[in-house]
Amino acid sequence: MTQHLVIPDRSARIVGGDPLAQRRTGWWRDAVIYQVYPRSFADANGDGMGDLAGVRSRLSYLRDLGVDAVWLSPFYASPQADAGYDVADYRKVDPMFGDTADAAGLIEDAHALGLRVIFDLVPNHCSDQHEWFQQALREGPGSALRKRFHFRPGRGLSGELPPNDWESIFGGPAWTRVTEPDGSAGEWYLHLFAPEQPDFDWEHPAVADEFRSILRFWLDLGVDGFRIDVAHGLVKAPGLPDLGMHDQLKLLGNDEMPFFDQDGVHAIYRSWRPILEEYAGDRIFVAEAWTPTVARTANYVRPDELHQAFNFQYLGTPWNAEALRDVVDQTLDAMRPVGAPATWVLSNHDVTRHATRFANEPSSSTQIRTPGDRELGLRRARAATMLMLALPGSAYVYQGEELGLPDVTDLPDEVRQDPSFHRQAGQDGFRDGCRVPIPWSGTAAPYGFGPVEGGPSWLPQPQSWAELSVEAQTGDPTSTLELYRSALAVRIKHPALGAGDSVEWLDAPAGALAFRRTVAGGSDETGADGATGASGAFVCVANTGSVPVRLPLPGRPMLSSGAEPVVIEGPERLAEIAPDTTVWWTC
Ligand code: NOJ
Repeated sequence: MTQHLVIPDRSARIVGGDPLAQRRTGWWRDAVIYQVYPRSFADANGDGMGDLAGVRSRLSYLRDLGVDAVWLSPFYASPQADAGYDVADYRKVDPMFGDTADAAGLIEDAHALGLRVIFDLVPNHCSDQHEWFQQALREGPGSALRKRFHFRPGRGLSGELPPNDWESIFGGPAWTRVTEPDGSAGEWYLHLFAPEQPDFDWEHPAVADEFRSILRFWLDLGVDGFRIDVAHGLVKAPGLPDLGMHDQLKLLGNDEMPFFDQDGVHAIYRSWRPILEEYAGDRIFVAEAWTPTVARTANYVRPDELHQAFNFQYLGTPWNAEALRDVVDQTLDAMRPVGAPATWVLSNHDVTRHATRFANEPSSSTQIRTPGDRELGLRRARAATMLMLALPGSAYVYQGEELGLPDVTDLPDEVRQDPSFHRQAGQDGFRDGCRVPIPWSGTAAPYGFGPVEGGPSWLPQPQSWAELSVEAQTGDPTSTLELYRSALAVRIKHPALGAGDSVEWLDAPAGALAFRRTVAGGSDETGADGATGASGAFVCVANTGSVPVRLPLPGRPMLSSGAEPVVIEGPERLAEIAPDTTVWWTC
């Protein structure tokens, strides 16, 4: 349907001249940001592991897809105990991904294509191989370097019990006992994640200084922003109190905990914001903050703190019109007072891909272990994506979702690398399923992920992925890739889409939701479509139910995630929307 679309064009900002300079400030208020998981995106040197040279070689694919920015998960020097979220040197690229010149070249190439680049910053913890931690171990109890981490004596007669009852998010105690330089069993250190990831003590001024310096290092290289890992975890409740009988935290849960979402964490972000402001180019921070409510998330994006925060409440919402409408309202209501854009996200490297989540019964877990009804899951995933891209604010796309990739739920145990899989024999440790290298072309693994047919890939790709490759889907108007391309193109062009802080809900039958968006500041000059007389308004209708729904014809259909809507003539013209389908209308 898109090829017949005549709409005013707000895409002039991305063509010709210096692509970035033409963008207005506040680009992040409606940006679509594409997450690259470097291990699994593109492998230029053929060792089975993705690398920065691979990412560079595929940037034009991302430009053509129609995204605004790329966020890369960590590629810093790391022993890879948690796929790079255990950083041994924050200023060094791990040789398996390339070097600093590759990172600089990637930024330069991306900018030349009009794409911004966001790196991942991991300030809650480092690797146990980080020089500071190694020194802290060597220097023993009471040393100045131990104060940069949470070292404590154990409880019990001989210190044999951990200092408190906290459990690691990856399973097992959140404390590990060290052997002191004299060979005795000694203090314990805190690690909210794997033992190889000791938590920094952010009360120590050297930690704060070090991270300000790290920020500048990458800002000087030209990066456009940072995604802040575990942004809600840096400050712990005073005295590190026991949790008592409280259920321990599951991976990426939303419960209140004495180590998450403490009010003191905000002072850190207020100290970071001026650093970013010193640099030209409208650079941003985005928080990975799992908080109990969207209202708590809004605290991270107050005007003097971070710019965006992932909306995990949205990610966790089932494919259900009523629940979706609620979370959209809650989000917009929470963000409006702080003036931050809402964000929308359906998938990332920590959760089961939405094509598989929606193929299964709704679950409170973000880790689904069964393939479910694949066809249904994909139909819903396409509809969910179109709903997401129609909402006001910024949206995140995780690599491979534009291909409709499902999770690989049957990876053999021996190839799994998720540390939580190995620490708790299964529970919640299934993140490898969404991290399988993506298929680009060809009929045999690694499907263009690496340069040589039959070459390695760090996780095996299913045979069925040949038909899901970028090559296989390109040019097929029914493919998920072409749906994403069309939706992103419409999103760039349609004047009512993108930034905003509200939607106008329309009456919709049970099981469906419908909303209108109008051009900010009136439609006469900014949005009117001279060719068709349309007002520049936009309507999105999503049918999450299992039967078709009818509603008054909202306008002219532009794009559908599935079957085209049927127009039913009568005294009132109606549109019929198929189950699990989202349709965009211009009116
Ligand atoms: C959140 C990251 O997204 C996840 O992959 C990682 O394991 C934890 N933080 C610890 O850094």
